[in-house]
Order: sequence, then C-alpha cells, then structure tokens
Amino acid sequence: MTLPMVQPEAGLPERVTIYEVGPRDGLQNEQAVVPVEAKAEFVRRLLAAGLPVVEATSFVHPRWVPQLADAAELMGLLGDEGVDLPVLVPNERGLDRALELGLRHVAIFGSATETFAQKNLNRGLDEQYAMFEPVVRRALDAGLDVRAYVSMCFGDPWEGTVPVDQVVTAGTRLLDLGATQLSLGDTIGVGTAGHVKALVAGFEAAGVGTDRLAMHFHDTYGQALANAHAALRCGITTFDASAGGLGGCPYAKSATGNLATEDLVWMLTGLGIEHGVDLGAVVETSTWMAGVLGRPSPSAVVRALAGA
Ligand code: HMG
Ligand code: MG
Repeated sequence: MTLPMVQPEAGLPERVTIYEVGPRDGLQNEQAVVPVEAKAEFVRRLLAAGLPVVEATSFVHPRWVPQLADAAELMGLLGDEGVDLPVLVPNERGLDRALELGLRHVAIFGSATETFAQKNLNRGLDEQYAMFEPVVRRALDAGLDVRAYVSMCFGDPWEGTVPVDQVVTAGTRLLDLGATQLSLGDTIGVGTAGHVKALVAGFEAAGVGTDRLAMHFHDTYGQALANAHAALRCGITTFDASAGGLGGCPYAKSATGNLATEDLVWMLTGLGIEHGVDLGAVVETSTWMAGVLGRPSPSAVVRALAGA
C-alpha cells in the first residue's frame, strides 16, 4: 500500500487522538437504514483498526433520526465492547436509555445559534441549557464522562456567519455544566483556516485551553483537512473524523460528510504525528461500508488506495 512521504513540521503536537464518528454522524444521514448487524461490524472493525474512540450511535427520538432507532439493539450486540463507546444523548430520556445499558460515556450536543437549536432540538438557545443541565449533573453523579458538542461554530445556513464570541459563550456554558471536552462543530463545512485560528484564540482568551477542545469538521467545501492543519498549528490534539468521509446532519441544510478518517490519518502520518491507526484497515472498512451503502466513498485517500 502506498504511504505518504514523512516530513515532520516544527511546532505541531507529537500525538493526536482521532475520535471516530462514522457509525453515528456517518450513518445518521444516510437515506438507507443500515442493518444493525452491519453497524456492529462497522464499529468492531474501526476498533480493530486502532481507533481509540468510536462514537457508536445516538439515543435521540427515533422519529427524529430513524436511521439510529436501533441504538439499544446495536449496543446490545456490541456487549462489553460497547460500554466504553460514547453515544449522543440530548435529554434525560436519552440519558436514561444509556444508563439502562450501563454505558459510561455520553455526549450532549448544543447549538451556537438560535435557529439550529430550534431545528435540531426543538428548543431555543436558553432552553437547550435547561435541557442539558440535569443530563450532565445526573451523568456525572453516576460516574459517566460527558462530552459536549457545539454546532454551527463557523456559519449557519439560516443566520450566516456566526461570531466567535457567540460560539465561545455557547461553548463555555456547556463546559460550565460539567462537560470534560468541547467539540467545535463546523456543521455545514463553511469554515476556513483563519477562522479556525480565531475561534481557538477566542476560547483561549476565555480561559479554555486547547487540551479541552476537539475540532469537528465537515468537508462540504473541501476545507476540512486545511482546517485540521490550522487547528494542529494552534495545538489542538483531538480531531473528530468519519471513516470514508460519511456524515452530515439531517437538520442542517447543506451539511455533507465529515473529515474522512483516512484523509486525516494520511496527513498526520506525513507530518510524523502519532495516531495509532492502521490506515489500510480503515480503508478496507470504508470500502466494505461503501458496498453496504451502495455508493463509493467520498474520501480521496480511500479512492486512491482502494483502487491501488
Ligand atoms: P421533542 O419532540 O421536543 O421531545 O424532541 P419532548 O421532550 O417534547 O418529548 C416528546 C416525546 O418524545 C415523549 O414521548 C418523549 O418520551 C419522547 P411521549 O411522552 O410523547 O410518548 N422522547 C424520546 N424518546 C426516545 N429517546 C429520547 C427522547 N426524547 C424525548 N431521547 C429531542 C426533542 C431533543 C428529543 C429531538 O429534537 C431530537 O431527538 N433531536 C435529535 C436531533 C439529532 O439527533 N440531530 C443530529 C445530531 S446533532 C449533529 O449531527 C451535529 C454534530 O455532529 C456536530 C456538528 O456537526 O456540528 C454533533
Ligand atoms: Mg457532525
């Protein structure tokens, strides 16, 4: 298999954690509902490929995201392998479902904009915090780890450019609830490199260091990898990515696939940054999943290597 030339760049982190979101962000946006056994195999293959964190599914309302209505069944199939995998929970009902299964990692997902909060959560901005507060409190009391996402960190299809201050306000409110990590989502992929730097600087100015931040890029305009590189230069060490570049949000007009795990792994390898992921195994997994979905992977690295 072809591998990238390696030339480290001074000043970048030595090691990065890839937070795989393919089974959740990837499959929530597919027209077809993937059989639950194939989802379990997808998760297992990603773990076997060395991905340290695989977000498995969402405990949201099944009518809102029918693609993930089999969340409990999936976690049942995964058994002991599943209990340490994070799942999305928007509210106490979602948390109860996760607790019933003994899961240990949950993620809440807030919005930086009023319109997307309404569309994605059926709540206004202030109401979203009221919904999340008991979720985080009860999860922490039960010994769970809580991640928080904030969506629409760069631009919003209804509200346009989202000011850095507005994102910092939303993100710090979610962290203040008790979340350990904040993932900054470019939900519709409109961010560019300078904006990434400005956003990270905005959080640092508010006392939130890069050790508490993760970046979650979507690749709608082909900027995800450039944005990840900009974030590396800012010292970010956790990146969300989706095997094969699957992904999108059913409640965000024009959201397309996430940064592909393979594209990220290729760049990190070339930069000499440790990530612990077996590129060939992820490419094989994405090629197999492309067969399940009946369409080719959008990832440039998957296309190049699968055809090699
Ligand atoms: P709602 O309709 O306002 O809910 O939806 P409600 O609280 O009024 O409850 C209505 C009924 O739903 C009740 O049942 C509840 O029990 C039930 P009833 O008493 O009428 O029989 N219910 C539930 N059932 C199962 N699981 C639940 C649940 N909650 C309520 N968790 C809600 C509010 C938040 C539930 C809804 O808006 C929802 O499910 N939204 C999820 C949308 C979503 O999943 N979007 C995609 C993920 S976000 C994303 O992709 C962005 C990200 O990748 C980062 C980025 O890219 O920026 C993370
Ligand atoms: Mg997303």
